[in-house]
Amino acid sequence: MDFGFWLGVALLLFAWLPAKCDHIPDEVLQMECRDRYFMIAVDLSFTGEEPRFEAVDETGVYPITQQYAAECGYSVNFLPLPGRVELRASYLSCHTDNKDDEAFMFNFNLIVKHEEKEVTYALNKTCSSSLPWSPREVTCELNYMEMSVRSENTCPSGTKKDDWDAVKTAHSSTTSDWQVMFQRAEEQLMPMNLSEARKQGYVFDLREGRLVFRMPYGQPDSFSTEVNGVPVEVVHATLFSRQSWVVLMVDLVAACSMHEGLYDDSGYMMWETPQVLHPLVSGLHDTQVNVGVNGELVEQPVAEERGYIVEKHNTTVQISIPCNAEGGYRKSFVTGDLYEFYVFDLYLEQTSEDEDLVETRLRCHRTLATPLLLRPIFTENQTIPEEQLFTVYLGDVPEDIELAAVQLNGQEFTIPFANTSVRSVTKFVQPNNTHSYTLKVPFDDPVVIREFSKEDAVLQYRLDVNYTLTVLPENEPFHHLTSIVALYTDVSPPEFDAVCSESGISFRLEHRPFDYLWYISIDSDLLTPQLAAQHGYSMSNNSQSLLLHVPLYTHGYEYKDITLRGFLGTFEILVRDHETSEVQSSTVKTCSFTTTELIMCSTDGRMTVVADLSLVIPSGGIPARSNLINKYCGPKEADDTRALFSFPLNSCGSIVKLGKENVTYQNEIFYSMNYLSVSKASSGDTERVTVQCTYPLAGLHRLFSVYRFESDTAGIGSIIHTMQSTAGPQIPTIKPTTTLQTTPASKRPARIPVAFLPAVRPPARYVRVNRFQNLNGTKKGAERTWQTKVNALI
Ligand SMILES: *[C@@H]1O[C@H](CO)[C@@H](O)[C@H](O)[C@H]1NC(C)=O
Ligand SMILES: *[C@@H]1O[C@H](CO)[C@@H](O)[C@H](O)[C@H]1NC(C)=O
Ligand SMILES: *[C@@H]1O[C@H](CO)[C@@H](O)[C@H](O)[C@H]1NC(C)=O
Ligand SMILES: *[C@@H]1O[C@H](CO)[C@@H](O)[C@H](O)[C@H]1NC(C)=O
Ligand SMILES: *[C@@H]1O[C@H](CO)[C@@H](O)[C@H](O)[C@H]1NC(C)=O
Ligand SMILES: *[C@@H]1O[C@H](CO)[C@@H](O)[C@H](O)[C@H]1NC(C)=O
Ligand SMILES: *[C@@H]1O[C@H](CO)[C@@H](O)[C@H](O)[C@H]1NC(C)=O
Ligand SMILES: *[C@@H]1O[C@H](CO)[C@@H](O)[C@H](O)[C@H]1NC(C)=O
Ligand SMILES: *[C@@H]1O[C@H](CO)[C@@H](O)[C@H](O)[C@H]1NC(C)=O
Repeated sequence: MDFGFWLGVALLLFAWLPAKCDHIPDEVLQMECRDRYFMIAVDLSFTGEEPRFEAVDETGVYPITQQYAAECGYSVNFLPLPGRVELRASYLSCHTDNKDDEAFMFNFNLIVKHEEKEVTYALNKTCSSSLPWSPREVTCELNYMEMSVRSENTCPSGTKKDDWDAVKTAHSSTTSDWQVMFQRAEEQLMPMNLSEARKQGYVFDLREGRLVFRMPYGQPDSFSTEVNGVPVEVVHATLFSRQSWVVLMVDLVAACSMHEGLYDDSGYMMWETPQVLHPLVSGLHDTQVNVGVNGELVEQPVAEERGYIVEKHNTTVQISIPCNAEGGYRKSFVTGDLYEFYVFDLYLEQTSEDEDLVETRLRCHRTLATPLLLRPIFTENQTIPEEQLFTVYLGDVPEDIELAAVQLNGQEFTIPFANTSVRSVTKFVQPNNTHSYTLKVPFDDPVVIREFSKEDAVLQYRLDVNYTLTVLPENEPFHHLTSIVALYTDVSPPEFDAVCSESGISFRLEHRPFDYLWYISIDSDLLTPQLAAQHGYSMSNNSQSLLLHVPLYTHGYEYKDITLRGFLGTFEILVRDHETSEVQSSTVKTCSFTTTELIMCSTDGRMTVVADLSLVIPSGGIPARSNLINKYCGPKEADDTRALFSFPLNSCGSIVKLGKENVTYQNEIFYSMNYLSVSKASSGDTERVTVQCTYPLAGLHRLFSVYRFESDTAGIGSIIHTMQSTAGPQIPTIKPTTTLQTTPASKRPARIPVAFLPAVRPPARYVRVNRFQNLNGTKKGAERTWQTKVNALI
């Protein structure tokens, strides 16, 4: 039998040039021989959006258009999810060279546009089918129905009534050419010759012992029906040829389930096909169903493991596939919210035998897709306040979605962060094909919104996060928002613990997370390690606590209640608001200290001195009887060895020495009822006690305008003990055993600050100066010399 149809096409022989030798890289090309078709898959990244295929045989080159593919047994499919274009060519397709039903030779051209230029790639492959052909095979491709029967097997044993009708028609035919007559439910259509049928999209072919019939779905001569509620498309063609008194007749029936698939909320995609599609296609006898995916059947145990379920209900085969089953594809999709859908390329083989034990093998390709399903992703607040960090977990992010950026309180940052040390995002891949991101932002990051309510003593940190996630590969963005708040209650300015010691006052502060809201100052100066070093404080600070020891007499002390028994020293630490510098709280500690000697020079012009007079007083004398230069200025208080004087600077006979930059008030403590006899009365060395206060002139604005002493700073006091030798009055030997100075305190108008002189007695050193010149305030040159020399000694 030769349908001769192809001759017409063959005559159109035009010289086709051998395809160019461009080569497709192996990694983007896949060519495989399957049981009943040959498959070429090429990555879309290589082919671009518009690749075309051509079928090639010795008769010519045939562009595979949509219509031509459906008529000639080709199926070209774009699969955006795995990202490739796939051509399936039936072993019985039009331009396949078939050697004895065993070797099938395929030649194709793939034409792609590369940089605006069309490039042709020649692809060829020879497939051999190891699977023996069944007497009758039906293929329900995505775009066509194909059936083939072994040609020697075309005589049916039984003959039914309606077949006789066809025979009658055939009998009346006047031509010996093959005719085809389509049959629909109740009607027979007019027979037509094969070239007419080909024109209408039906292909009949005889290839190496098999009679092939193929047509696209939805042809006018096919019909749709329902079997047990499942839609089925059926085509029934009867071929006949009258040769003298014999009528040869072949009945060809193909039927495919047109079920569209269902999705149920339990996460399964379901597809149905009747066990018996048509009495002439398959029988109930011994039906077997095998399921596969992407055009390949899988073994029963594998199918079970993947959760594919095949059930027979009331002669309907029901196939259920979990939507995320292996072999399927998943895709995220954004329309407002985030959605996803699953696609599963179902492949199905149904074998059955009819009553004559003729095996029919039906293969079906169907694409199942779920509707758009809402895909929630979530954030979880994993903040641990003690860590001082916001920790936000973003979970259930599908594989094809990536975090591209975050907005933190409205500020945009791309991921990964430029400054990894400050804030961070860490990605974790989960075993269930999702991943997660953990975002960490320290509370003290400038992007964090901090709200502190003094009234309620509540400190609140807020972080509004706007995640920008993009769906790959199309980079479609969508946003996920979350807002996190961390609260501290009972937020009050820090308070120090203070302890008195002999040498000074020790302060201790345990750090709290929110203490940076304030800063610590001494007076108006920010407490820093530098300031501490400058003033001689000892400070140690770590992440837990701050320890500050303030030795007595250092900057910042205030003294009062000075008596011979001791005095009170007060030190104040201020806590100020970071923004306004306002004092928010303070820790004031007052301790009582004892000392043998001290001198204070107050800003309002008073000198207070406790001096040790033991060397001034002749044996038997008492300090209570000592006096200043003005002998009517006696001590306020005295004990066995010491006396306390307190007097206005420029009274009691003080000598005023005006220097270039400062003024010094000097006085001296004498022991005598008779001032003039002091030096004579004493025998041997006598100690002299000089007391003085020095003020910088710059701080004494009103000294000469108002009749009142007022200094910006406390003066620097000194008690100078010198030994005076009576042996050589002209050139006396002066032993300054103690000249100690304090550093001036800064301006504190509200209080009465003092400078302070501790009575430490270093080993004596000696210098010779002219006593007369020394005490004579008019000789400035000499005065300076004396000062310089004394300073050089201490
Ligand atoms: C098939 O392709 C290979 C290279 O891919 C080439 O060597 C061979 O000549 C081709 N055969 C035909 C018949 O085109
Ligand atoms: C087939 O039928 C058509 C119309 O019925 C006719 O025009 C055509 O000549 C026929 N072809 C052959 C080869 O008989
Ligand atoms: C089985 O199919 C028959 C005929 O189509 C129908 O009447 C019957 O209800 C079906 N049974 C079930 C359980 O679906
Ligand atoms: C990174 O951090 C440094 C200091 O930590 C800062 O000066 C710089 O501006 C930061 N850069 C960015 C891009 O945030
Ligand atoms: C994936 O695994 C993670 C971690 O085990 C889990 O938190 C998440 O809920 C899982 N997501 C899905 C969709 O199963
Ligand atoms: C989140 O960020 C995007 C741009 O990055 C912006 O268009 C959107 O309005 C933001 N959403 C909110 C609620 O701020
Ligand atoms: C987040 O976590 C922190 C610390 O556990 C908690 O204080 C806060 O209330 C949580 N919730 C929100 C919405 O920020
Ligand atoms: C002490 O250390 C903490 C951090 O360890 C720091 O925040 C604070 O500013 C330091 N304080 C001073 C006074 O240096
Ligand atoms: C007084 O002024 C001089 C400079 O004129 C300076 O060297 C000296 O240290 C000052 N004395 C005191 C006690 O401040």
